[in-house]
Amino acid sequence: MTIHVDPDWWKTLFDDVYLVTDARSVCSPEVTETEVEVFSRLIPIGRSHQILDLCGGHGRHALELSRRGFAHCTVLDYSRCLLRRGAAAAARHRLSVAFVNGDARNIAFPRSCFDHVMVLGNSLGYIPDPQADAEILAEAYRVLKDGGWLLLDVADGASIRKRFSPNAWHEIGGDVVVCRQREQQGDVICAREMVISKESGLIRDRTYCMRLYQPPALAAAATRAGFSRTTIHTDFSPHLGEGDYGCMNHRMIITAQKT
Ligand SMILES: C[S@@+](CC[C@H](N)C(=O)[O-])C[C@H]1O[C@@H](n2cnc3c(N)ncnc32)[C@H](O)[C@@H]1O
Repeated sequence: MTIHVDPDWWKTLFDDVYLVTDARSVCSPEVTETEVEVFSRLIPIGRSHQILDLCGGHGRHALELSRRGFAHCTVLDYSRCLLRRGAAAAARHRLSVAFVNGDARNIAFPRSCFDHVMVLGNSLGYIPDPQADAEILAEAYRVLKDGGWLLLDVADGASIRKRFSPNAWHEIGGDVVVCRQREQQGDVICAREMVISKESGLIRDRTYCMRLYQPPALAAAATRAGFSRTTIHTDFSPHLGEGDYGCMNHRMIITAQKT
């Protein structure tokens, strides 16, 4: 079996259905709180700091940071659908978070305007062009102030390979079943995802892919982008229970500074 993936899949997959298929990870307040607890201990975030949640989706981390008094958070993401969801949640909870549409490879912000750039919840490695992540890291470097911190939170390639399973499925609520078929193609995992409603039938049948990084390789990419003081933290699993959470468990966190 070979799973074929449209290279632009990432431009359309992150929508309302994604918020259902990945709800266990991205719509769980407990998971997001755990993650923010961990991230905010690893870099020196101050309440007056400008924080960019790059590829921030519906802004769950920025919203949680804002709730904790970090008042200057900006979310940048390609998905207008997720940004709209985030902006609505911010308005509902009276939180001041900016939601900006854009491509992380070419960020429409001037150089040196953020104290921290965070790329969270496994948001690298989606664009098949191997240069894409280097471009994202270069942009993170450019928009950071001198002394600012980068925090990357992505799947730990070594750990994911060790636990690789070609099939997985889980239920969401009483109605939706998410089935995933996976294949390793070099350092890339390709997947076919079928989402089925027991009541109304097929909701989605799509393929996607993700480049897996070994921890030292991603740290080296950060160094090539200009960062220093790079630290790798492995074995970060926000889900405590058993289960196949795809690449949302067994993550690594890399922190690095623009010095
Ligand atoms: C797995 S989701 C995680 C979202 C968010 N960080 C979270 O943890 O909830 C990955 C996100 O990266 C975004 N993304 C991927 N590549 C991007 C790019 N080149 N520019 C902007 N956003 C991108 C997607 O739109 C999606 O919202």
